[in-house]
Amino acid sequence: MTKKLAIGMFQNGRARGTWRMPGRADEPNFTDLEYWVDLARRCEAAGADFLFLADSYGYPTLDGAVIPTAIERDVQFSTVDSQMLMSALAAATSTLGLVTTVSTMAEKPPIVARQYRSLDHFSKGRMGWNVVTGSAQAGSALLFGEPLMPHDDRYALADDHVQLSLKLWEGCWADDALVKDADTGIWADPGKVQEVVHDGPYFSSRGVLVTPPSPQVTPTLFQAGASSAGRELAATYAEAVFLAAESKALAEQISDIRRRAEEKGRGRDAVKCLIAGTFRIADTEEEARRAHAEQIAGISLEFAATTYAYFTGIDLLSLDLDKPMPAAAANTDNGRTNVERFLGPDAPTVREIIEEFRANGVMGKPFLGTVEQAVDQAVALIEETDADGFLVQPDPDGGHDIFFDKVMPELRRRGLIKDELPGTTLREHLFGEGCVRLPDTHPGAAFRQSAMAAAAR
Ligand SMILES: Cc1cc2nc3c(=O)[nH]c(=O)nc-3n(C[C@H](O)[C@H](O)[C@H](O)COP(=O)(O)O)c2cc1C
Repeated sequence: MTKKLAIGMFQNGRARGTWRMPGRADEPNFTDLEYWVDLARRCEAAGADFLFLADSYGYPTLDGAVIPTAIERDVQFSTVDSQMLMSALAAATSTLGLVTTVSTMAEKPPIVARQYRSLDHFSKGRMGWNVVTGSAQAGSALLFGEPLMPHDDRYALADDHVQLSLKLWEGCWADDALVKDADTGIWADPGKVQEVVHDGPYFSSRGVLVTPPSPQVTPTLFQAGASSAGRELAATYAEAVFLAAESKALAEQISDIRRRAEEKGRGRDAVKCLIAGTFRIADTEEEARRAHAEQIAGISLEFAATTYAYFTGIDLLSLDLDKPMPAAAANTDNGRTNVERFLGPDAPTVREIIEEFRANGVMGKPFLGTVEQAVDQAVALIEETDADGFLVQPDPDGGHDIFFDKVMPELRRRGLIKDELPGTTLREHLFGEGCVRLPDTHPGAAFRQSAMAAAAR
């Protein structure tokens, strides 16, 4: 394999059920700022491309109420606001990319545009926005006191949201609008700072984003959500996408995203496809298997079903366990990635879906064994699926240290990752030195004042 893999590190607070494992009662302590700062520093020291902190307002619900197991066992439940951590992490690091989520359902475009632009300044161009329509949207809708918007409408809203955000980032300020000339007293050229004009189905604006352009101008755009509508959003706007499934589904999702991106004139390689995966390493394969089995043994069927309900709003325990999911149940307005992935001619039974979620959660099978075996498996998956890299889940026993100490050196030894991060911005880390701004083939580039003027001529 000749390509260099992109490596993102994932953390959302706690791995599944691990807070109660011996000696780990408060490790990691996700309400301590120090924990996050330390994690970011270790990701940077290890040479990862970026750290990604997931976020959602949602939580597991069924029939309009929180599932008690979610509270009792902390299933996708307790969290802090990831975006609030980003300034601190930017201050504590100097090369690491920083990515976090804001759902297009939660904040309006001017808020998102201003927040991420500010963070892109503070981090000197290392910021990425993970665009989602929101996991556990039913819980989120309850919290916000809103009806649950139909699934594909949420993606139509997301499209409109990103368009307006791109106009605010790319269109308001010409590259040379900020003059800052103390002699003449001119701060910025009024002819080069323009109001956006946007009349979309969900958002409209005639305003100016007053924060001047940051190093990347538009933060690097990520996307997570691999339903059909999600893949369309990714192919239209994303520069990197997070995917999690078994290898066959992953290969289909990736080839579909690449095909759609190519159809849109962006090219097959415009979207870095990153597989969410866990490395379960031990000195021997047997030991790794035993540690994995011990962790799974601590996860009940209710825990697994609650996790599934979080992502889909579907109560697997109410269905016939020995049949595939019936079409009526599959017709959910919550997230659809983890519904669509289990449909079709080879559909597993409901019991098998629960078992999959018990063993692997939402993330697909771990790479398991000695470090050499796990890296062999990871490389095989990249080759099978044509992916570009990994979003690495923390090891349930040892967090990310095992990956840093064992897997990163092995990947480096095999020449599979970059020796040094190219450039200083997140976009350059992923696409190479000099790729600071959105490429001209990205729809955001059409909103630049220079492009608008050329189109008007
Ligand atoms: C690795 C990974 C990370 C994700 N991170 C988030 C996140 O931070 N916030 C969120 O709401 N959804 C996140 N998602 C996406 C949701 O699981 C869900 O698929 C999506 O928000 C709903 O879209 P869908 O209907 O296309 O599934 C993530 C998915 C994956 C695979």
